[in-house]
Amino acid sequence: PPLSEILNLHDFEAIAKLVMPEKAWAYYSSAADDEITNRENHAAYHRIWFRPRILRDVTNVDWSTTILGQKSRMPLYISATALGKLGHPDGELNLTRAAAKHGVIQMIPTLASCSFDELVDNAAPGQVQFLQLYVNKDREITKKIVQHAEERGIKGLFITVDAPQLGRREKDMRMKFEAEDPAEVTSNKQEDKVDRSQGAARAISSFIDPGLDWKDLPWFKSITKMPIILKGVQCWEDALIAYDQGLAGVVLSNHGGRQLDFARSGIEILVEVVAKLGELRGLKFPNEKFQLFVDGGVRRATDVIKAVALGATAVGVGRPFIYAFSAFGYEGVDRALEILNDEFEMNMRLIGARNLKEIVPEMVDAHNIHQH
Ligand code: FNR
Repeated sequence: PPLSEILNLHDFEAIAKLVMPEKAWAYYSSAADDEITNRENHAAYHRIWFRPRILRDVTNVDWSTTILGQKSRMPLYISATALGKLGHPDGELNLTRAAAKHGVIQMIPTLASCSFDELVDNAAPGQVQFLQLYVNKDREITKKIVQHAEERGIKGLFITVDAPQLGRREKDMRMKFEAEDPAEVTSNKQEDKVDRSQGAARAISSFIDPGLDWKDLPWFKSITKMPIILKGVQCWEDALIAYDQGLAGVVLSNHGGRQLDFARSGIEILVEVVAKLGELRGLKFPNEKFQLFVDGGVRRATDVIKAVALGATAVGVGRPFIYAFSAFGYEGVDRALEILNDEFEMNMRLIGARNLKEIVPEMVDAHNIHQH
């Protein structure tokens, strides 16, 4: 089907499944074990309902914001997803270009298929990019990556903390990852030995340090001035430690359901984090100094609006964009962002909010969020 027939982000998934190489579909779509968390990520948004306000002159609505002090057209960023070239020869460059056109922020993955410098070199003047970091057992390698990123103008460091070991993604494990695979990444130079017998994820991830600990965070702060955010926080207790350690924020995430099955959805975690950090530290969200992000299962602007109402600064979106470029290249991602923009305009009007500040907690009913 032509791109003009795509009406929403779900459509990209259905088409990608039909047209993508089997191996790429297995890697992108797979999630851990029985994939219950993956299913729940989107389903959790279905338990939140709106309480719209009326008669507010919504002729002009504006959903732009700032994320870690950087301008963004939407309260949404492109989350890090590895191995872009499995789905399309231009890989993550498709995301860089579409992000530039739409004024949204791209989070570059450590395990991008394109080299980090290629993705930075191809950014538009002033385009904002973040870096997702997998921490190597060899800290000198990690230090080089972080300091190089800062020199190249990266505006935020997202350290992934939910993957001390890769989850079992069985669809992916049934595939073999070949040496000549076009997605083979520069970051693979971090590997000593690559086990290619059980899928893409395992082949590329053996360098990640399971020994990473809260004790390491002061070191990260000593080697960079970039804001540091932990990606993969899953309860208020850890969000509180991150806040007390002076980090810039946390991403409440279960890695798109790809790590611990039966981990809760980010939007559900958000509710308890906002309540507890309010109670214990007097924080109000959205908060400039300590920003909360959510990812997993975001497919509609209404999902984003719910997260913002509940206190998130912005949300991350993963699979929809990689399905979009797998099926349609750059134009697919361009269309996906345009669809989200259109959805924002309409839904902001329909809930009666002219800007993000007017999206308040009273606009949602999240009483059933914890009911699974
Ligand atoms: C990811 N994600 C991810 N996260 C990360 O920190 N480093 C990584 O290398 C990757 N790689 C990756 C590959 C693929 C194919 C997927 C689908 C996801 C997780 C990602 O950043 C984000 O947390 C989820 O994708 C959000 O869920 P949705 O939007 O895909 O439902």
